[in-house]
Amino acid sequence: MQSLPLLSHYLQQAQAKLPAAIWHYLQADAGDGHQLHANALAWQAQKLMPRPLQQLHNASTACEMFGERWAHPILLAPVAYQKLFHDDGEIGTAVACNAQQGQMMVSSLASQTIEHIIQQAQQPLWFQLYWQGDRARTLPLLEKALASGASAIVFTVDAPVKQSLMDLPEGVSAVNLAQALAPLPIAPGQSTVFDGWMSQAPTWEDVHWLRQQVTVPLLLKGLMHVDDAKRAVDAGCEGIVVSNHGGRVLDNTPTVTAVLPQIVTAVGGQCKILVDSGIRSGQDAFKALAMGADAVCIGRPYIWGLATEGAMGVAKVIRWMRDELEMTMALTGASSLQDIRQLALYQS
Ligand code: FNR
Repeated sequence: MQSLPLLSHYLQQAQAKLPAAIWHYLQADAGDGHQLHANALAWQAQKLMPRPLQQLHNASTACEMFGERWAHPILLAPVAYQKLFHDDGEIGTAVACNAQQGQMMVSSLASQTIEHIIQQAQQPLWFQLYWQGDRARTLPLLEKALASGASAIVFTVDAPVKQSLMDLPEGVSAVNLAQALAPLPIAPGQSTVFDGWMSQAPTWEDVHWLRQQVTVPLLLKGLMHVDDAKRAVDAGCEGIVVSNHGGRVLDNTPTVTAVLPQIVTAVGGQCKILVDSGIRSGQDAFKALAMGADAVCIGRPYIWGLATEGAMGVAKVIRWMRDELEMTMALTGASSLQDIRQLALYQS
């Protein structure tokens, strides 16, 4: 099975089309590019065992998520400022989800209003929440998302310290925020990190507070440690996204493949387990499901499609991922996501 042409085409086109600073912002990781590659290579390193001659006439990628029936388990991870990549922006991504029965997580740093994005969607979207420095400033953003009809809140907890990866061009901004979050001013001798950023970062107590405010399923995004996954369940979260943020925050973390099995053992069945970071094909998605994930998210790959062909490019990426997931199921003899979970990945 040839898996790369569509994505490698979009990757090349996106690089050719986007100004260098925007391309760098999209592809950047927290270090020298090592983590970005390590994330993708770790999925490739997992091996599949062919199982021919299975009866697969009624096979399906359908799954259940928080009481909804979905056609497939491939979500679009939150990506900030999508108008940077194409004029269609987040609305283009929402339209692509309509066409391909996909689900997207609208970033707190979206470049179009939540109301407009959700209006264009044929199904309720998920909203990704970034902490806004304190509870009083976070609540209005959360309330806006809930009032717009967000059907789940994904609270990203792994990026409390923001590196400025690029200056935004005119006309692109985080339009849903009352004001951009900046580090607190510090006195000489104080720490930029601890006194500037971390004094407004959320803690587990804030997760408990958030749980009281959120009337829809709440997921924590950016957990890698098994104890944090357990704590999320104890705090009443309905889901977690196991993620190293595509390598963009802390350099030299383990890959998701390295931590997922123990997290599944610890909290599988108690909350939904989603994963992202380095997933580049339907085969990778299959492997994540075989390791016990309930669904997968992609980040950069759909933005390569957006940059190349707007909404159409995003739709083609979702479709291609799904087709490839189906082909992988066909060749490994899995007729459902349940079946995939029963299959052990090949161990040499
Ligand atoms: C991100 N990511 C991200 N995550 C989040 O919770 N809120 C956000 O606003 C953003 N913004 C963002 C911008 C860009 C340009 C990228 C590439 C990523 C992280 C994203 O949701 C996801 O965790 C990773 O992108 C997954 O890794 P891959 O698929 O890009 O390897």
